[in-house]
Amino acid sequence: MKDKLLNAKNEAISLILSTHDSKELEEIRIKFLGRNGTLTTLLKDLVSLPREEKPIIGRLANETKNIIEDTFNQRLQTLTKNKQSMTNSIDITDPGIRPPLGHLHLVTQAIEEITAIFNKIGFTRKRYPEIEWDWYPFTALNFPDNHPARDDWETFFIDHKPDPKLGPVVLTPHTSSGQIHEMQKGEIPIRMINIAKCYRRQSDTSHTPMFHQFEGLVVDKEISISHLKGALSYFVKSYLGEKRTIRIRPYHFQFTEPSFEVDVSCGVCLGKGFLPNKQKCKLCKSGWLELGGSGMVHPNVLKNCNIDPEKYTGFAFGWGVERVLMMKEGIEIDDLRMLYSNNLNFLQQF
Ligand code: DAH
Repeated sequence: MKDKLLNAKNEAISLILSTHDSKELEEIRIKFLGRNGTLTTLLKDLVSLPREEKPIIGRLANETKNIIEDTFNQRLQTLTKNKQSMTNSIDITDPGIRPPLGHLHLVTQAIEEITAIFNKIGFTRKRYPEIEWDWYPFTALNFPDNHPARDDWETFFIDHKPDPKLGPVVLTPHTSSGQIHEMQKGEIPIRMINIAKCYRRQSDTSHTPMFHQFEGLVVDKEISISHLKGALSYFVKSYLGEKRTIRIRPYHFQFTEPSFEVDVSCGVCLGKGFLPNKQKCKLCKSGWLELGGSGMVHPNVLKNCNIDPEKYTGFAFGWGVERVLMMKEGIEIDDLRMLYSNNLNFLQQF
């Protein structure tokens, strides 16, 4: 009996001192001092002891009970005090909790970089409506009515009464309509870069219904193809790297004459088409990658904006933001739609 009391005391004290809150403490109290608790049961057993042992063991049992109760009360006080000091005071030396910091979407990052590059050579970023009359992206850009070339743009039409002169309302299918808005202002010289969302009915691994283009336009006296090549070569070297070069190939667009497709030398084989081990380059196959369209502004387009083509000439180009972004070294995206999926695991890598 003596040993049982001693063990109960030791066990109770160590359990009480290791409690973290009043709830845990109460559980320990019930375990030892409750109606069926360890100590309560031992006290009940006193009755069955031989007469001569009863006073000694009885005293010991009472002492044990008092010690456990005292330890319990002290612990309760300490726990209550701790809780109060935690809720009532602020430790101003504690480091704060930083809110998680995000970053700009990688397309926004690309737009900012492209803008900065063109700013350096005197282009100003302009913004024009995303919803506009058909006249701006088509008719004014020298597309005859119902011309099959319009089909290439796979335009979204808005349910709205067409304007007798300007035609139906559309979601802007390319940034070239910005050229018209800019030229209509009649403020020459023009050196603008229009970066905007464009919309077309397309969705696969390399197309999204909404995407971004950046459109450059320069109009002044004696603007020639060499200005176009100079500006585009400067952009490619700044954005993709000093080693990259461009070439222009004849092409056709309704709104430029002559028109070109611009290619950039491949970043992997540097325009050779072959790797140092004589194997064909897998990325480009021929040494060149297609960048986008460009050309000298068509005289009809200048006329549509009341600019005299005998006096002024201009060059223009319109390229995809997502496209040049993917050409940047180190960025490989198998499915372009990932860009707009709002998947943080993907976006946080950039
Ligand atoms: N707007 C054309 C497109 O979306 C691209 C383009 C081609 C823009 C030639 C231009 C240009 O300014 O000169 O496919």
